[in-house]
Amino acid sequence: MILSIFILLCSCTAADDGCAYTQREVQSDLDFCVKQIARSLDSLRSEDGTIDYHQIPRNILRGETKWNCRPAVKEEWCNGFYPGILWLAYEYSGDENFRTEAERFTEQLKFLSETPAYDHDLGFLVFPSYGNGYRLTGNNDYRKIIVATADTLATLFNPHVGTILSWPRECEPKGWPHNTIIDNMLNLEMLFWAADATNDSTLYNIAVSHADRTMQCQFMDGYRVQHVAVYDKDSGELLKLVTHQGHDDRSLWARGQAWAVYSFTMCYRFTRDPRYLDFAQHCADTFIAGLPADMIPYWDFDDPAIPNAPRDASAACVVASALVELQSYLTGERRTHYLDTAKRMLASLASDAYRPNNGSVALLMHSTGNLPAGSEIDASIVYADYYYLEALLRMKQQNN
Ligand code: GLY
Repeated sequence: MILSIFILLCSCTAADDGCAYTQREVQSDLDFCVKQIARSLDSLRSEDGTIDYHQIPRNILRGETKWNCRPAVKEEWCNGFYPGILWLAYEYSGDENFRTEAERFTEQLKFLSETPAYDHDLGFLVFPSYGNGYRLTGNNDYRKIIVATADTLATLFNPHVGTILSWPRECEPKGWPHNTIIDNMLNLEMLFWAADATNDSTLYNIAVSHADRTMQCQFMDGYRVQHVAVYDKDSGELLKLVTHQGHDDRSLWARGQAWAVYSFTMCYRFTRDPRYLDFAQHCADTFIAGLPADMIPYWDFDDPAIPNAPRDASAACVVASALVELQSYLTGERRTHYLDTAKRMLASLASDAYRPNNGSVALLMHSTGNLPAGSEIDASIVYADYYYLEALLRMKQQNN
């Protein structure tokens, strides 16, 4: 591990004129990913060669080599990512087998467009799956499902607060009458997209309101996000900021900050509002300033156990992908800085320290799901792989 970090730093910091990663490695890393995804599909087959599409990959825990799957039910927030991975593999390779399997996994999530909202995760579920599917195939049924799911998500919007409720199930037990978690910002991508597709200003206004209130209320000391904002559901007043998956109520949970970088960049894509572009850069600067030498964050930037705390490769993947987009809206030194940072993160993720070496079918090791709950610590997690692949594809497009 120490040797690979050393090689990585040497290859990426020689002179300050940029990281040598892109030209040499994006293509071979994408080739590696596609091979692994093909292996992962094979590993899902039972002895008669069939796949149970109702069981969707979620994680590979330390020492394991195959995906642990979860059923396609409303309580499982990660089920959009594996279909999304298959769609991205199809996009890169053109291999029709990936498309066929992507379609089969994607179809498992149709029910989300036909039932009331269980919670806010509808964008995470339906946009990597149906969103990529529509982008790559133009299938009009997919478009209808995305629009219907966006309408469902909008039912959780509370106009007194100005944000979408994240977890209806936690209002009573936790005493969080209207709770909004930073992750919820990612769901706005589906709302903005559906607003554009249907000329629906209601969906657009909900997305803008949610982003604005989050920007105003959910950050401590400027640009450090807190996981959960709790609001009074009637007056709309902010009651408190607390953590759910971070170390404590003042610490900076790495993936929370990653969601902030990604989502405010995405808000700029849809609105061209310079406030979002500015805010995304500040959030990115906070994230980057807290990175250790190998550019992959500890799961929480303020865990007192650092340097013996687990990493969260998934947060690096989310930010690497976001930075490739963010730099495309900028010029000069800031553009170079974010692009080089994304390259350094991707180079690190491709190193022996993060690439599975035990025969595992995942793309990456060392992500952390929910450490306080003792769940998915130092594991391969499906959303890390999804955003990693997205980052590589964005980088390839950027090079082109
Ligand atoms: N959306 C939950 C998480 O980031 O773990």
